[in-house]
Amino acid sequence: MSKRNILILKAVLHLLCLAPFFWLIRFYTSGALELDPDPVAYITHFTGNWALWILLASLAITPLRRLSPRISWLIRFRRLIGLYAFFYASLHLATYIFLFSGYDLPTVLTAVRGGHPGVVVSEWKVVWPTIWDDVLKRRFIQVGFLAWLILLALAATSPAFIMRAMGGKNWQRLHRLVYLAGAAAVIHYWWLVKTGVRTPWKVTAVLIVLLMARLAYTAGKRLSKSRFVLQTTRN
Ligand code: HEM
Repeated sequence: MSKRNILILKAVLHLLCLAPFFWLIRFYTSGALELDPDPVAYITHFTGNWALWILLASLAITPLRRLSPRISWLIRFRRLIGLYAFFYASLHLATYIFLFSGYDLPTVLTAVRGGHPGVVVSEWKVVWPTIWDDVLKRRFIQVGFLAWLILLALAATSPAFIMRAMGGKNWQRLHRLVYLAGAAAVIHYWWLVKTGVRTPWKVTAVLIVLLMARLAYTAGKRLSKSRFVLQTTRN
């Protein structure tokens, strides 16, 4: 694929990945969000779902590009898609901290505009114990945090110069944790839904297929390596 086409596809991908974000802003500014019985839960679910589906899309790139050498250029988009998964996961976390937890964002914004930036911290001090209590007591929050921390580490080490500084092998080892982030996010989903609710089945099925593709590839690689060693020792 030519450089020009890669650039065009990247621009399209940026637009596609930003579309849910702009849609949410439009939904809010049009007043439609307020008509929802629980707007905060709506934003939490919206950002959580997009973070998870985009993360799964980034995981799908590697097995897809192995299907044919003609689509090996797909790898050029993996980093970008992964960074958008982190973007939506961070919006999701921000929703939890600044809306879900009871942080009085409208009051804080009014106070900041009125020249009282100290309210940011004092309001944080009010909600901090609740958040900490949630982290200690609710396992779905713990596993969600684990997923987000992994995504943070991967996003922070994604620039090419950091990859060079870390060395290819170390970088690859760290970036394999993306599968753990995917699994943690899916477990997060299962642990937060009520008993008997099966909504996370779709993301679970996709994750299992992707993990199996990964395992099959690693097993195949090991097998061909051991065959090669056997052949060279016989010769
Ligand atoms: C950073 C730490 C995280 C926190 C504190 C957090 C918190 C939450 C909360 C409070 C909910 C709503 C629970 C309810 O309805 O009662 C939720 C839902 C959800 N979260 Fe997270 N989350 C985190 C990380 C993540 C990550 C990294 C992902 C995905 C990559 C994710 C995906 C989801 C999904 C898919 C839902 C359910 C959406 C639905 O029900 O439609 N979360 N999360």
